[in-house]
This record gives sequence, structure tokens and C-alpha cells, in this order.
Amino acid sequence: MKSFIPVNIPLLNGNEKKYLNQCIETGWISSEGPFIKEFENKFAARVGRKHGIAVCNGTAALDAAIEALGIREGDEVIMPTFTIISCISHLIRIGAQPVLIDSDPLTWNMDINQIESKITEKTRLIMIVHIYGLSVDIDPILDIAKRYNLLVLEDAAQMIGQTYKGLPCGSFGDISTFSFYPNKHITSGEGGMIVTNNAQLAEECSSLRNLCFQSEKRFIHERLGWNLRMTNLQAAIGLAQLERLEEFIYIKRKMGSFYTNALKDLPFLQLPLKNTSYSENIYWVFGLVISDSISLSASDAMNQLSKQGIGTRPFFYPMHKQPILNRMGYFNNDYHPVSERLYNKGFYIPSGLGMNLDQLRSCSNAVSNIFKSYI
Ligand SMILES: Cc1ncc(COP(=O)(O)O)c(C=O)c1O
Repeated sequence: MKSFIPVNIPLLNGNEKKYLNQCIETGWISSEGPFIKEFENKFAARVGRKHGIAVCNGTAALDAAIEALGIREGDEVIMPTFTIISCISHLIRIGAQPVLIDSDPLTWNMDINQIESKITEKTRLIMIVHIYGLSVDIDPILDIAKRYNLLVLEDAAQMIGQTYKGLPCGSFGDISTFSFYPNKHITSGEGGMIVTNNAQLAEECSSLRNLCFQSEKRFIHERLGWNLRMTNLQAAIGLAQLERLEEFIYIKRKMGSFYTNALKDLPFLQLPLKNTSYSENIYWVFGLVISDSISLSASDAMNQLSKQGIGTRPFFYPMHKQPILNRMGYFNNDYHPVSERLYNKGFYIPSGLGMNLDQLRSCSNAVSNIFKSYI
């Protein structure tokens, strides 16, 4: 029997072991070790920002960034509904009001044409979230933000190494965040990074990350923070991975081309766009959306693939449909049909950096067999 192909297999065969050994040999395993600063500096430089603040995961990066921006109870935040719960949870906890935008059916990113009509006197922030491999069209959003004097947070968790009109994702707006979970283009096991050009925001995030200890009177607190620190061990892995980012992007694009060529002629199947006029896909994941003209759902297809030993994941469940948020009284009148359809009909197939050609072939053959049966 063929072995199971998981949806993600990371690639850890660079300097990861060497740098981890250095942590062990020197005893620097906490968040005070030297790899942290090096990772922060090199990562920030790679994405064209002045400051990098390493944290324990991408969710924590968002929480701290939102807090540092000064978003408070009653503030409205415009953001996509088709995203991960990490984008919204801190907003809900502080009593801010997320205002949700539906997705574009082709790029799966938020439909930027819907943003302006959602602005009110209470709007303070637009949250850009790049989804699955293509950059959001950022310039029109920055233009709106400027005209209405709004803050911009860019969640580039899935977009390490991606560009928008040639400039790095993570370099736009007031502050940007990243995740280094193992399914990202580079990983640190768990990990995240906040980047910004604003020294005050950077200072604020770094204080929030470290329980708002004060440098003079360490245990006397004027504010409440969190312990969101990254360890030197994580930074060691992150740094080794960062050294190979260009190669990883190349591999991901090769995988994207392989799957695109293998699946492009199948009926009833929408593939990720290879590019838009402003960005070339880096295939964080290789998503598939089943046509409405057949009754097959994403979960049917995922079940069939699972029986053949192929791991998959469903697309995001939109924020406006989340039971916990609906029970709390949020979004009960929201309707965002594109994102609902993406959830019902969308899923992604294995595309981890550690996959080999045989595994890619097995996955594309299994998908082909399902859809060929509909011809
Ligand atoms: C868009 C987006 N934001 C935030 C996160 C959260 O990152 P983490 O899993 O590191 O907390 C993710 C995770 O995949 C994500 O996709």
C-alpha cells in the first residue's frame, strides 16, 4: 500500500541542524539568544522594513499589531470574511467591530471594490489579508486609506517572498505580520514576525511581546502585555530557512506549474490563477474550486482523496458564518456568497516543499480520476 501523502511536508535540510546545535552548545535556548536579533534584522531587510519583532506565532503577531495600532472598543475594522480566525479574534475580544468584505471569485482575495462603501465615521483600520498565493491589489486600498485617514495592517502570513508590483509583500501599510508555521514558505516550527517602518509601533510591539516589562523598573507595570516571545531555537530554524527563501519560492512555483499543467484540461475545476497584472502566484497552497454545475462538494472530493491516501484541507470557513461569532451576535445579517461558495466547493491538495515528483504525480492523478468521471 502506498504511504499517505500529507498536505504539508516541510524541507529542513539546510543549516537548521547546525544553528540548533549552536543553541544547545552555547546554552542560548530562550528568547534572549543572538539568533533572534539576526532573524529579525534579516527578515525585516528581506521584506523592505526597518524593524522586525519576532513573536511566537502569526496569530500573536496580529494581536500585538492590532493592540499597538491602538484599535479599541467600538472601532470598525474592514477586513475579508474569507480568512483565518486569527485575523478577527483579538478584534472581538476588545469589542471592536469587524466589517466584512466578500471575496473575488478568481483571486480569492478580498474584493477591493466593496471596501469604500463600508467606510463610516467609526472606521479606523483596513486589514489586508493575502490569501493562498496571490497578493491583494494593494494600491487602491492604500489610496482609500489615505483619503479617509485610515490605518492599514497587512497580514502577509501566507505571502513570505511574494511581491506586489515588484515590491515585497509585508512592506505595505503601517504594519505587517507574518507566520512561520511549517506550512509557510519558511518555517520556524511555530513563529511569527511583525514588521514596520514606524519606530514607535515597533517599540510598542516589542513591549507588548514581553509583558510590558519596563527597562528601569522591570516588575512595575503601566500596561498589560503578553508573553509572545520567540525562542532562540525557533529563530535558529527561521534563519536557516530564510537563507533559502528564493529557492523555496522557485520550488513552489514549479509545483504550481506542475499541477496547473496536469489539471488544466479537467472539466468542472477552477485552478489558482498563475498571475495577475500585479503578482505572480507563489502557491502558498494549491487550491481547487469545483464548479457549481456538478453536485460534488469539496468534502466529497476530500473524502475520495483521503481514501487514496492523499491529505487535503478545506478552504477557510468565512468569518460571518462562524458559530461562535454568530452566537455572540456578530454577522447574523451578513451574506457573502462568493466566500460561502469557496468554502463549499474549495479545498487544497498537498504542496509541501518536501514533496517529491512521484508524490505530486500521485496527487494530480487522483484528482484527475475524480473529475474525468464527470465527462
Ligand atoms: C492569513 C493568516 N493569518 C494568520 C495566521 C496565523 O498564523 P499562526 O498559525 O502562526 O498563528 C495564518 C495561519 O495560517 C494565516 O493563514
